[in-house]
Amino acid sequence: MGKQDAADRRNPRWHAFQVLQEVDRGRRLGVLPPAGLSSKDQGLFRELVSGVVRWRSWIDWQIDRLLSKPLHDDEVGYALRQVLRIGIYQMAFTDRIPPHAAVSTAVDLASGLRLPHNLVNALLRRFAAEERHPEPPRLAERFSVPDWFVRRIKRQATGRHPEDLEATLRWMQTRAPLTLRWDTRKVEGPFVREQLAAKGIKSVFSPWAPFALILPEFRGAVQEIPGFEEGWWRIQDEAAQIVTTFLDPQPGERVLDACAAPGGKTEDMVQRMGGQGSVVAMEFKRERMQSLEELAAREKIVRVVRGDARHPLLPEATFDRILVDAPCSGSGTWRRHPDGKWLKKDEDIPAYLERNLHIIKGLTPLLKPGGVLVYCTCSILEEEDEEVVRTALHEIPDLKLDPLPDLLGLPMRSGMFRSPLVEGGMDGFFSARFRKVG
Ligand SMILES: C[S@@+](CC[C@H](N)C(=O)[O-])C[C@H]1O[C@@H](n2cnc3c(N)ncnc32)[C@H](O)[C@@H]1O
Repeated sequence: MGKQDAADRRNPRWHAFQVLQEVDRGRRLGVLPPAGLSSKDQGLFRELVSGVVRWRSWIDWQIDRLLSKPLHDDEVGYALRQVLRIGIYQMAFTDRIPPHAAVSTAVDLASGLRLPHNLVNALLRRFAAEERHPEPPRLAERFSVPDWFVRRIKRQATGRHPEDLEATLRWMQTRAPLTLRWDTRKVEGPFVREQLAAKGIKSVFSPWAPFALILPEFRGAVQEIPGFEEGWWRIQDEAAQIVTTFLDPQPGERVLDACAAPGGKTEDMVQRMGGQGSVVAMEFKRERMQSLEELAAREKIVRVVRGDARHPLLPEATFDRILVDAPCSGSGTWRRHPDGKWLKKDEDIPAYLERNLHIIKGLTPLLKPGGVLVYCTCSILEEEDEEVVRTALHEIPDLKLDPLPDLLGLPMRSGMFRSPLVEGGMDGFFSARFRKVG
Protein backbone atom coordinates (compact mmCIF):
# COMPACT_ATOMS: atom_id res chain seq x y z
CA MET A 1 0.00 0.00 0.00
CA GLY A 2 1.01 3.60 -0.45
CA LYS A 3 3.15 5.49 2.02
CA GLN A 4 1.25 7.01 4.94
CA ASP A 5 1.70 10.57 6.01
CA ALA A 6 1.88 11.50 9.67
CA ALA A 7 -1.69 12.82 9.72
CA ASP A 8 -3.03 9.29 9.10
CA ARG A 9 -1.64 8.17 12.44
CA ARG A 10 -4.15 10.38 14.21
CA ASN A 11 -6.99 9.03 12.08
CA PRO A 12 -9.06 6.33 13.89
CA ARG A 13 -10.31 4.99 10.55
CA TRP A 14 -6.75 4.44 9.32
CA HIS A 15 -5.94 2.52 12.51
CA ALA A 16 -9.16 0.51 12.17
CA PHE A 17 -8.16 -0.32 8.57
CA GLN A 18 -4.78 -1.66 9.78
CA VAL A 19 -6.17 -3.68 12.68
CA LEU A 20 -9.00 -5.20 10.60
CA GLN A 21 -6.40 -6.66 8.26
CA GLU A 22 -4.57 -8.17 11.21
CA VAL A 23 -7.83 -9.66 12.57
CA ASP A 24 -8.43 -11.23 9.15
CA ARG A 25 -5.00 -12.85 9.50
CA GLY A 26 -5.96 -14.38 12.87
CA ARG A 27 -5.10 -11.71 15.46
CA ARG A 28 -7.48 -11.65 18.44
CA LEU A 29 -9.62 -8.55 18.78
CA GLY A 30 -8.58 -7.52 22.30
CA VAL A 31 -6.67 -4.61 20.79
CA LEU A 32 -5.89 -1.54 22.77
CA PRO A 33 -6.66 1.68 20.92
CA PRO A 34 -3.46 3.24 19.60
CA ALA A 35 -1.90 5.87 21.86
CA GLY A 36 -2.09 9.31 20.31
CA LEU A 37 -5.82 9.12 19.56
CA SER A 38 -8.11 11.38 21.59
CA SER A 39 -10.47 9.49 23.91
CA LYS A 40 -13.37 10.20 21.52
CA ASP A 41 -11.37 8.77 18.61
CA GLN A 42 -10.35 5.77 20.72
CA GLY A 43 -14.07 5.06 21.20
CA LEU A 44 -14.67 5.37 17.46
CA PHE A 45 -11.70 3.09 16.70
CA ARG A 46 -13.08 0.43 19.07
CA GLU A 47 -16.55 0.70 17.63
CA LEU A 48 -15.34 0.46 14.01
CA VAL A 49 -13.13 -2.53 14.61
CA SER A 50 -15.57 -4.59 16.64
CA GLY A 51 -18.59 -3.47 14.57
CA VAL A 52 -17.02 -4.39 11.24
CA VAL A 53 -15.92 -7.77 12.59
CA ARG A 54 -19.39 -8.39 14.07
CA TRP A 55 -21.24 -7.53 10.83
CA ARG A 56 -18.59 -8.58 8.34
CA SER A 57 -20.55 -10.96 6.12
CA TRP A 58 -23.70 -8.77 6.16
CA ILE A 59 -21.56 -5.83 5.03
CA ASP A 60 -19.75 -7.89 2.37
CA TRP A 61 -23.09 -9.01 0.96
CA GLN A 62 -24.15 -5.36 0.64
CA ILE A 63 -20.84 -4.42 -1.01
CA ASP A 64 -21.05 -7.26 -3.51
CA ARG A 65 -24.59 -6.47 -4.59
CA LEU A 66 -23.69 -2.80 -5.18
CA LEU A 67 -20.57 -3.48 -7.28
CA SER A 68 -20.98 -3.42 -11.03
CA LYS A 69 -18.11 -5.90 -11.33
CA PRO A 70 -16.40 -7.95 -8.62
CA LEU A 71 -13.41 -6.52 -6.78
CA HIS A 72 -10.08 -7.87 -7.98
CA ASP A 73 -8.77 -10.80 -6.01
CA ASP A 74 -5.53 -9.00 -5.16
CA GLU A 75 -4.03 -6.63 -2.58
CA VAL A 76 -5.86 -3.61 -3.97
CA GLY A 77 -9.23 -5.38 -4.09
CA TYR A 78 -8.76 -6.58 -0.52
CA ALA A 79 -7.80 -3.10 0.76
CA LEU A 80 -10.75 -1.55 -1.08
CA ARG A 81 -13.11 -3.99 0.57
CA GLN A 82 -11.73 -3.06 3.97
CA VAL A 83 -12.29 0.68 3.31
CA LEU A 84 -15.81 -0.03 2.03
CA ARG A 85 -16.59 -2.17 5.10
CA ILE A 86 -15.66 0.73 7.39
CA GLY A 87 -17.82 3.14 5.36
CA ILE A 88 -20.87 0.87 5.19
CA TYR A 89 -20.65 -0.04 8.86
CA GLN A 90 -20.88 3.61 9.87
CA MET A 91 -23.91 4.24 7.67
CA ALA A 92 -25.80 1.09 8.61
CA PHE A 93 -25.01 0.73 12.30
CA THR A 94 -24.13 4.08 13.85
CA ASP A 95 -26.48 6.99 14.24
CA ARG A 96 -24.03 9.67 15.28
CA ILE A 97 -22.05 9.75 12.01
CA PRO A 98 -23.94 11.46 9.17
CA PRO A 99 -23.80 9.50 5.89
CA HIS A 100 -21.96 12.29 4.06
CA ALA A 101 -19.21 12.15 6.75
CA ALA A 102 -18.99 8.35 6.42
CA VAL A 103 -18.58 8.72 2.64
CA SER A 104 -16.06 11.56 2.69
CA THR A 105 -13.87 10.00 5.39
CA ALA A 106 -13.84 6.71 3.44
CA VAL A 107 -12.89 8.56 0.25
CA ASP A 108 -10.09 10.35 2.13
CA LEU A 109 -8.88 7.04 3.56
CA ALA A 110 -8.87 5.47 0.08
CA SER A 111 -6.96 8.45 -1.37
CA GLY A 112 -4.40 8.32 1.47
CA LEU A 113 -3.89 4.64 0.68
CA ARG A 114 -3.59 5.35 -3.09
CA LEU A 115 -6.70 3.28 -3.78
CA PRO A 116 -9.31 4.01 -6.50
CA HIS A 117 -11.33 6.46 -4.42
CA ASN A 118 -13.90 7.09 -7.17
CA LEU A 119 -15.19 3.58 -6.76
CA VAL A 120 -15.44 4.07 -2.99
CA ASN A 121 -17.31 7.34 -3.50
CA ALA A 122 -19.76 5.90 -6.03
CA LEU A 123 -20.55 2.72 -4.09
CA LEU A 124 -21.00 4.41 -0.73
CA ARG A 125 -23.18 7.14 -2.23
CA ARG A 126 -25.37 4.47 -3.78
CA PHE A 127 -25.71 2.79 -0.38
CA ALA A 128 -26.44 6.12 1.33
CA ALA A 129 -29.16 6.95 -1.20
CA GLU A 130 -31.15 3.78 -0.45
CA GLU A 131 -34.22 4.29 1.65
CA ARG A 132 -34.04 0.72 2.93
CA HIS A 133 -31.23 -1.73 2.44
CA PRO A 134 -32.28 -5.20 1.32
CA GLU A 135 -31.70 -8.03 3.79
CA PRO A 136 -29.55 -10.97 2.63
CA PRO A 137 -31.73 -14.03 1.97
CA ARG A 138 -29.36 -16.51 3.66
CA LEU A 139 -29.10 -16.68 7.47
CA ALA A 140 -25.28 -16.74 7.32
CA GLU A 141 -25.11 -13.25 5.81
CA ARG A 142 -28.25 -11.89 7.44
CA PHE A 143 -26.85 -12.60 10.90
CA SER A 144 -23.17 -12.53 9.94
CA VAL A 145 -22.09 -15.96 11.12
CA PRO A 146 -20.07 -18.65 9.31
CA ASP A 147 -21.95 -21.09 7.07
CA TRP A 148 -20.71 -24.07 9.08
CA PHE A 149 -22.21 -22.62 12.24
CA VAL A 150 -25.62 -22.11 10.62
CA ARG A 151 -25.53 -25.72 9.39
CA ARG A 152 -24.76 -27.03 12.87
CA ILE A 153 -27.19 -24.88 14.80
CA LYS A 154 -29.97 -25.62 12.30
CA ARG A 155 -29.37 -29.32 12.73
CA GLN A 156 -29.72 -29.09 16.49
CA ALA A 157 -32.79 -26.86 16.16
CA THR A 158 -34.55 -29.59 14.17
CA GLY A 159 -38.04 -29.90 15.51
CA ARG A 160 -37.89 -26.49 17.17
CA HIS A 161 -39.53 -23.44 15.73
CA PRO A 162 -37.47 -21.65 13.03
CA GLU A 163 -38.28 -18.41 14.84
CA ASP A 164 -36.27 -19.69 17.83
CA LEU A 165 -33.30 -20.16 15.54
CA GLU A 166 -33.58 -16.63 14.17
CA ALA A 167 -34.05 -15.23 17.67
CA THR A 168 -30.82 -16.95 18.76
CA LEU A 169 -28.90 -15.67 15.75
CA ARG A 170 -30.30 -12.17 16.32
CA TRP A 171 -29.29 -12.36 20.00
CA MET A 172 -25.76 -13.26 18.91
CA GLN A 173 -25.52 -9.86 17.21
CA THR A 174 -26.57 -7.86 20.25
CA ARG A 175 -24.20 -6.05 22.56
CA ALA A 176 -23.45 -7.90 25.78
CA PRO A 177 -23.82 -5.97 29.03
CA LEU A 178 -20.87 -5.58 31.34
CA THR A 179 -21.36 -7.65 34.50
CA LEU A 180 -19.35 -7.45 37.73
CA ARG A 181 -18.81 -10.02 40.45
CA TRP A 182 -18.18 -8.19 43.69
CA ASP A 183 -15.68 -9.55 46.21
CA THR A 184 -17.75 -10.45 49.26
CA ARG A 185 -14.67 -10.24 51.45
CA LYS A 186 -14.22 -6.55 50.64
CA VAL A 187 -17.66 -5.08 49.96
CA GLU A 188 -21.39 -5.72 49.94
CA GLY A 189 -23.32 -5.60 46.64
CA PRO A 190 -25.69 -2.77 47.69
CA PHE A 191 -22.66 -0.64 48.60
CA VAL A 192 -21.10 -1.13 45.14
CA ARG A 193 -24.45 -0.33 43.56
CA GLU A 194 -24.69 2.93 45.54
CA GLN A 195 -21.19 3.97 44.51
CA LEU A 196 -22.02 3.29 40.86
CA ALA A 197 -25.29 5.23 41.12
CA ALA A 198 -23.39 8.20 42.58
CA LYS A 199 -21.38 8.25 39.33
CA GLY A 200 -24.54 7.97 37.24
CA ILE A 201 -23.92 4.30 36.34
CA LYS A 202 -27.12 2.26 36.27
CA SER A 203 -26.87 -1.31 37.61
CA VAL A 204 -29.17 -4.20 38.49
CA PHE A 205 -28.65 -7.32 40.60
CA SER A 206 -28.83 -10.65 38.83
CA PRO A 207 -31.83 -12.73 39.85
CA TRP A 208 -29.68 -15.89 39.53
CA ALA A 209 -26.04 -15.21 40.34
CA PRO A 210 -25.72 -14.10 43.98
CA PHE A 211 -22.73 -11.76 43.51
CA ALA A 212 -23.48 -10.37 40.06
CA LEU A 213 -24.22 -6.74 39.30
CA ILE A 214 -25.20 -6.03 35.69
CA LEU A 215 -24.46 -2.67 34.06
CA PRO A 216 -26.92 -2.74 31.15
CA GLU A 217 -26.07 0.62 29.61
CA PHE A 218 -22.43 1.16 30.51
CA ARG A 219 -20.19 1.79 27.47
CA GLY A 220 -17.20 3.52 29.04
CA ALA A 221 -13.76 2.28 30.10
CA VAL A 222 -13.73 -0.12 33.05
CA GLN A 223 -11.25 2.11 34.88
CA GLU A 224 -14.10 4.63 35.26
CA ILE A 225 -16.17 2.23 37.39
CA PRO A 226 -15.88 2.91 41.15
CA GLY A 227 -13.84 0.23 42.92
CA PHE A 228 -11.56 -0.57 39.95
CA GLU A 229 -8.40 0.46 41.84
CA GLU A 230 -9.57 -1.05 45.13
CA GLY A 231 -10.39 -4.46 43.58
CA TRP A 232 -13.98 -4.44 44.84
CA TRP A 233 -15.09 -6.45 41.82
CA ARG A 234 -14.01 -8.40 38.74
CA ILE A 235 -15.66 -8.53 35.37
CA GLN A 236 -17.46 -11.85 34.92
CA ASP A 237 -20.66 -12.66 33.08
CA GLU A 238 -23.68 -13.88 35.04
CA ALA A 239 -23.66 -17.30 33.37
CA ALA A 240 -19.98 -17.81 34.18
CA GLN A 241 -20.78 -17.04 37.84
CA ILE A 242 -23.68 -19.49 37.88
CA VAL A 243 -21.28 -22.31 36.95
CA THR A 244 -19.42 -21.88 40.24
CA THR A 245 -22.77 -22.09 42.06
CA PHE A 246 -23.17 -25.56 40.51
CA LEU A 247 -19.68 -26.58 41.62
CA ASP A 248 -20.53 -25.27 45.11
CA PRO A 249 -17.03 -25.43 46.64
CA GLN A 250 -17.04 -25.46 50.45
CA PRO A 251 -14.56 -24.01 52.96
CA GLY A 252 -11.84 -26.53 53.78
CA GLU A 253 -12.27 -28.63 50.63
CA ARG A 254 -9.63 -29.59 48.08
CA VAL A 255 -10.71 -28.33 44.67
CA LEU A 256 -9.17 -28.59 41.19
CA ASP A 257 -9.78 -25.98 38.52
CA ALA A 258 -8.53 -28.07 35.62
CA CYS A 259 -8.65 -25.52 32.76
CA ALA A 260 -8.06 -22.45 34.80
CA ALA A 261 -6.59 -19.50 32.87
CA PRO A 262 -7.15 -16.59 33.09
CA GLY A 263 -8.60 -17.52 36.50
CA GLY A 264 -12.02 -15.85 36.75
CA LYS A 265 -13.65 -18.96 38.17
CA THR A 266 -10.64 -19.84 40.34
CA GLU A 267 -11.02 -16.52 42.10
CA ASP A 268 -14.79 -17.01 42.45
CA MET A 269 -14.10 -20.40 44.10
CA VAL A 270 -11.63 -18.91 46.57
CA GLN A 271 -14.18 -16.28 47.50
CA ARG A 272 -16.95 -18.83 48.02
CA MET A 273 -14.60 -20.99 50.11
CA GLY A 274 -13.87 -17.99 52.33
CA GLY A 275 -10.17 -18.51 51.69
CA GLN A 276 -10.27 -21.89 53.57
CA GLY A 277 -9.06 -25.12 51.94
CA SER A 278 -6.99 -25.49 48.76
CA VAL A 279 -7.48 -24.79 45.09
CA VAL A 280 -5.15 -26.23 42.46
CA ALA A 281 -5.33 -24.16 39.26
CA MET A 282 -4.11 -26.16 36.28
CA GLU A 283 -3.40 -24.68 32.86
CA PHE A 284 -1.96 -26.10 29.69
CA LYS A 285 -0.63 -22.99 27.97
CA ARG A 286 2.31 -21.27 29.58
CA GLU A 287 1.52 -17.93 27.89
CA ARG A 288 -1.89 -17.83 29.62
CA MET A 289 -0.58 -18.47 33.13
CA GLN A 290 0.50 -15.01 34.28
CA SER A 291 -2.84 -13.91 35.72
CA LEU A 292 -3.07 -17.23 37.60
CA GLU A 293 0.38 -16.62 39.11
CA GLU A 294 -0.77 -13.16 40.18
CA LEU A 295 -3.90 -14.66 41.75
CA ALA A 296 -1.80 -17.21 43.65
CA ALA A 297 0.39 -14.38 44.95
CA ARG A 298 -2.75 -12.70 46.40
CA GLU A 299 -4.61 -15.81 47.59
CA LYS A 300 -2.58 -18.23 49.64
CA ILE A 301 -4.89 -21.24 49.09
CA VAL A 302 -4.23 -21.22 45.33
CA ARG A 303 -1.44 -23.32 43.83
CA VAL A 304 -0.80 -23.03 40.10
CA VAL A 305 0.41 -26.03 38.10
CA ARG A 306 1.20 -26.25 34.45
CA GLY A 307 -0.31 -29.45 33.12
CA ASP A 308 -2.46 -31.26 30.62
CA ALA A 309 -5.83 -32.23 32.08
CA ARG A 310 -5.88 -35.26 29.77
CA HIS A 311 -2.85 -36.67 31.62
CA PRO A 312 -2.75 -34.86 34.97
CA LEU A 313 0.26 -35.53 37.19
CA LEU A 314 -1.66 -35.14 40.44
CA PRO A 315 -2.44 -37.71 43.17
CA GLU A 316 -5.51 -39.91 42.62
CA ALA A 317 -8.68 -39.79 44.74
CA THR A 318 -7.71 -36.55 46.50
CA PHE A 319 -10.13 -33.90 45.18
CA ASP A 320 -13.60 -33.14 46.53
CA ARG A 321 -14.55 -31.13 43.46
CA ILE A 322 -13.19 -30.57 39.97
CA LEU A 323 -14.22 -27.90 37.50
CA VAL A 324 -13.64 -28.51 33.79
CA ASP A 325 -14.25 -25.12 32.13
CA ALA A 326 -13.45 -26.73 28.83
CA PRO A 327 -11.79 -25.34 25.71
CA CYS A 328 -14.58 -24.81 23.16
CA SER A 329 -15.76 -22.78 20.17
CA GLY A 330 -16.86 -19.97 22.50
CA SER A 331 -20.01 -19.54 20.39
CA GLY A 332 -21.94 -18.46 23.50
CA THR A 333 -19.67 -15.43 23.79
CA TRP A 334 -19.39 -14.42 20.13
CA ARG A 335 -21.63 -11.41 20.77
CA ARG A 336 -18.87 -10.25 23.16
CA HIS A 337 -15.91 -11.47 21.09
CA PRO A 338 -17.14 -11.40 17.47
CA ASP A 339 -13.70 -12.30 16.08
CA GLY A 340 -14.19 -15.79 17.55
CA LYS A 341 -16.72 -16.71 14.89
CA TRP A 342 -14.26 -16.12 12.06
CA LEU A 343 -11.30 -17.74 13.85
CA LYS A 344 -13.02 -21.05 14.61
CA LYS A 345 -13.53 -23.67 11.91
CA ASP A 346 -16.07 -26.42 11.33
CA GLU A 347 -13.48 -29.13 11.97
CA ASP A 348 -12.71 -27.65 15.42
CA ILE A 349 -16.07 -28.84 16.78
CA PRO A 350 -15.52 -32.64 16.64
CA ALA A 351 -11.96 -31.99 17.86
CA TYR A 352 -13.33 -30.24 20.97
CA LEU A 353 -15.67 -33.15 21.61
CA GLU A 354 -12.72 -35.60 21.46
CA ARG A 355 -10.45 -33.43 23.59
CA ASN A 356 -13.02 -32.71 26.27
CA LEU A 357 -13.98 -36.34 26.61
CA HIS A 358 -10.31 -37.14 27.01
CA ILE A 359 -10.04 -34.43 29.70
CA ILE A 360 -12.99 -35.83 31.68
CA LYS A 361 -11.50 -39.33 31.44
CA GLY A 362 -8.09 -38.06 32.56
CA LEU A 363 -9.52 -36.27 35.59
CA THR A 364 -12.01 -38.85 36.91
CA PRO A 365 -9.36 -40.85 38.84
CA LEU A 366 -8.39 -37.68 40.77
CA LEU A 367 -11.86 -37.40 42.35
CA LYS A 368 -12.55 -38.84 45.78
CA PRO A 369 -15.43 -41.36 45.81
CA GLY A 370 -18.62 -39.29 45.87
CA GLY A 371 -16.68 -36.29 44.54
CA VAL A 372 -18.21 -33.85 42.06
CA LEU A 373 -17.04 -32.91 38.56
CA VAL A 374 -18.68 -29.97 36.78
CA TYR A 375 -18.21 -29.82 33.01
CA CYS A 376 -19.00 -26.50 31.37
CA THR A 377 -18.46 -24.65 28.12
CA CYS A 378 -19.34 -21.23 26.77
CA SER A 379 -20.68 -22.86 23.60
CA ILE A 380 -24.26 -23.18 22.44
CA LEU A 381 -23.51 -26.15 20.18
CA GLU A 382 -24.85 -29.46 21.47
CA GLU A 383 -21.86 -31.37 20.04
CA GLU A 384 -19.64 -29.58 22.55
CA ASP A 385 -22.17 -29.86 25.37
CA GLU A 386 -24.84 -32.56 25.79
CA GLU A 387 -23.04 -34.89 23.38
CA VAL A 388 -19.85 -34.78 25.45
CA VAL A 389 -21.89 -35.55 28.59
CA ARG A 390 -23.80 -38.41 26.95
CA THR A 391 -20.58 -39.97 25.62
CA ALA A 392 -18.79 -39.53 28.96
CA LEU A 393 -21.63 -41.28 30.81
CA HIS A 394 -21.48 -44.10 28.29
CA GLU A 395 -17.69 -44.52 28.36
CA ILE A 396 -16.79 -43.77 32.01
CA PRO A 397 -18.55 -46.22 34.35
CA ASP A 398 -17.28 -44.36 37.46
CA LEU A 399 -19.34 -41.25 36.63
CA LYS A 400 -23.05 -40.72 36.93
CA LEU A 401 -25.03 -37.60 36.18
CA ASP A 402 -25.89 -35.54 39.25
CA PRO A 403 -28.92 -33.63 37.91
CA LEU A 404 -28.82 -29.91 38.57
CA PRO A 405 -31.84 -28.57 40.43
CA ASP A 406 -33.85 -25.72 38.92
CA LEU A 407 -32.25 -22.45 39.93
CA LEU A 408 -34.67 -19.75 41.12
CA GLY A 409 -37.06 -20.29 38.26
CA LEU A 410 -34.40 -21.23 35.71
CA PRO A 411 -35.47 -24.69 34.53
CA MET A 412 -32.79 -27.29 33.78
CA ARG A 413 -32.98 -29.46 30.65
CA SER A 414 -32.63 -33.15 31.56
CA GLY A 415 -30.74 -32.06 34.67
CA MET A 416 -28.31 -29.91 32.69
CA PHE A 417 -27.99 -26.13 32.48
CA ARG A 418 -28.25 -24.12 29.30
CA SER A 419 -28.27 -20.40 30.00
CA PRO A 420 -31.32 -18.50 28.76
CA LEU A 421 -30.05 -16.29 25.93
CA VAL A 422 -32.81 -14.16 24.53
CA GLU A 423 -34.85 -14.07 27.77
CA GLY A 424 -31.90 -14.14 30.19
CA GLY A 425 -29.52 -11.72 28.51
CA MET A 426 -26.49 -13.64 29.75
CA ASP A 427 -23.71 -15.35 27.80
CA GLY A 428 -24.39 -18.76 26.31
CA PHE A 429 -23.13 -21.30 28.84
CA PHE A 430 -23.67 -25.00 29.36
CA SER A 431 -23.06 -27.03 32.54
CA ALA A 432 -23.54 -30.57 33.68
CA ARG A 433 -22.56 -32.11 37.02
CA PHE A 434 -21.20 -35.62 37.47
CA ARG A 435 -20.66 -37.54 40.69
CA LYS A 436 -18.08 -40.29 41.13
CA VAL A 437 -19.68 -43.51 42.24
CA GLY A 438 -18.03 -45.97 44.64
C1 LIG B 1 -12.53 -21.59 28.72
S1 LIG B 1 -10.88 -21.32 29.14
C2 LIG B 1 -10.94 -21.28 30.90
C3 LIG B 1 -11.45 -19.98 31.51
C4 LIG B 1 -11.25 -19.94 33.00
N1 LIG B 1 -11.80 -21.10 33.68
C5 LIG B 1 -11.84 -18.69 33.63
O1 LIG B 1 -12.96 -18.72 34.13
O2 LIG B 1 -11.15 -17.66 33.64
C6 LIG B 1 -10.16 -22.89 28.84
C7 LIG B 1 -8.69 -22.97 29.26
O3 LIG B 1 -8.30 -24.34 29.18
C8 LIG B 1 -6.96 -24.41 28.72
N2 LIG B 1 -6.75 -25.79 28.22
C9 LIG B 1 -7.01 -26.29 26.99
N3 LIG B 1 -6.70 -27.59 26.93
C10 LIG B 1 -6.24 -27.93 28.16
C11 LIG B 1 -5.74 -29.13 28.72
N4 LIG B 1 -5.66 -30.27 28.00
N5 LIG B 1 -5.33 -29.12 30.01
C12 LIG B 1 -5.40 -28.00 30.77
N6 LIG B 1 -5.85 -26.82 30.27
C13 LIG B 1 -6.26 -26.79 28.99
C14 LIG B 1 -6.91 -23.33 27.67
O4 LIG B 1 -5.57 -22.94 27.42
C15 LIG B 1 -7.74 -22.22 28.33
O5 LIG B 1 -6.93 -21.38 29.09
